[in-house]
Amino acid sequence: MPAVRQVAQKFGLLGGWSGTPDFLDAERSFGALLLAPDGAGGALGFGGTLRRGAVTHLGDLFVLPEHQSSGVGRALLTELLPGDGPKVTFASSDPRAVALYVRHGLRPWTPLLYLTGPATGLPTPSARPTQAEDVAARPTWAKDVEARPVRAEDVAALDAHASGGARSDTLAWYAGLPGVTMYATDGGYAAARLTGPDVVIGPAGGETSQDCADAVLGALAGTRARSARMAVPGTHPLVPALLGAGWRIADMDTLMADDAVLALIRPDRYVPHPDLG
Ligand SMILES: CC(C)(COP(=O)(O)OP(=O)(O)OC[C@H]1O[C@@H](n2cnc3c(N)ncnc32)[C@H](O)[C@@H]1OP(=O)(O)O)[C@@H](O)C(=O)NCCC(=O)NCCS
Repeated sequence: MPAVRQVAQKFGLLGGWSGTPDFLDAERSFGALLLAPDGAGGALGFGGTLRRGAVTHLGDLFVLPEHQSSGVGRALLTELLPGDGPKVTFASSDPRAVALYVRHGLRPWTPLLYLTGPATGLPTPSARPTQAEDVAARPTWAKDVEARPVRAEDVAALDAHASGGARSDTLAWYAGLPGVTMYATDGGYAAARLTGPDVVIGPAGGETSQDCADAVLGALAGTRARSARMAVPGTHPLVPALLGAGWRIADMDTLMADDAVLALIRPDRYVPHPDLG
C-alpha cells in the first residue's frame, strides 16, 4: 500500500481524503488493487477497480511519467478488466487511456463534469414532477421536499438501481467514515461527506432525474457546508442548474462504458462519487 500511495500522491489523487482509510482501501477490500512492481519495493504504476453487482468500475490506472508508453498500463488493464462483464470508468483526456479503454470494449459516453460551488443559496428541492418519466425536464425548485439522514442499508436498493449494481458493503464502509451522512428523499438518495467547510456529494441517484436532483440539493441543504463538489454526468439536469447558479467546472473526464452498462445506468439519474464511482 505505501508503494501504491506514493504513485497516487504523485498524481494528486488523495487530495480529497484526509488520511486513511481512503478509496484505495475500498478498492483493495471491495474490488481489486494491482501494482506494477519496479523490482525495488516500489511501483511503476497501479490500477484499481470497485464492483457493483456485475458491473466493474475502473477507478484508477496510473503509470509514473518516466515509465509511461511502455506497456505497463495495458498490462495492468488486461489483468483488471478480463472477460465480458459490464464495465465503466471515468477516463482522463490522456489519449492513451481512452485508446486502451476502447480496446477493452468501452466507448466514450458523456462528459463527466467535476463541479464546485457554494453549498448555500441554492434552490431547495422541488416538488415531485407531474410527469415522472419526463427525463428532459429540468429541475424546478420549490420548498416541500426534505432530505432526511438514513442508514446505508436504507438506500442500498435504490443505489443498486441507480448505479447499475448492488454494493451494500462499499456503501456501509463509506457511511462509516467520519463526516459521511446518507440522505434520502421520497424517490432519491445522496451521500455527503463533510471535510471542514467542504462537502463531497455522491453517490446519489433517484427514480427520475428530478428525484436525483432533489436528493442532491436536499443533502446539500442538510450538511450546512460552505462549499461543495461533485462529479455530474453531462446529461444530468443538475449541470445547467448548478452552472446557472454560478458553480464552476474544476475538471472534466469522459464517462466511458460498454454496451452492457449503457442498459443499466441512466446518467441523468445518477451522480457518482468522484472516487468510488
Ligand atoms: C494512461 C496511462 C495509464 C496508460 O499507461 P501506459 O503504460 O502509458 O500505456 P501503454 O504503454 O500500456 O499503452 C498506451 C497505448 O496507447 C496507445 N496510444 C498512444 N498514443 C495514442 C494516441 N494518440 N491515440 C491512440 N492511441 C494511442 C499506444 O499505442 C498503446 O496502445 P497499444 O499498447 O495497444 O499499442 C498512463 O499513460 C498514465 O498514467 N497517464 C497519466 C495519468 C492518466 O491520465 N491516467 C488515466 C486515468 S483515467
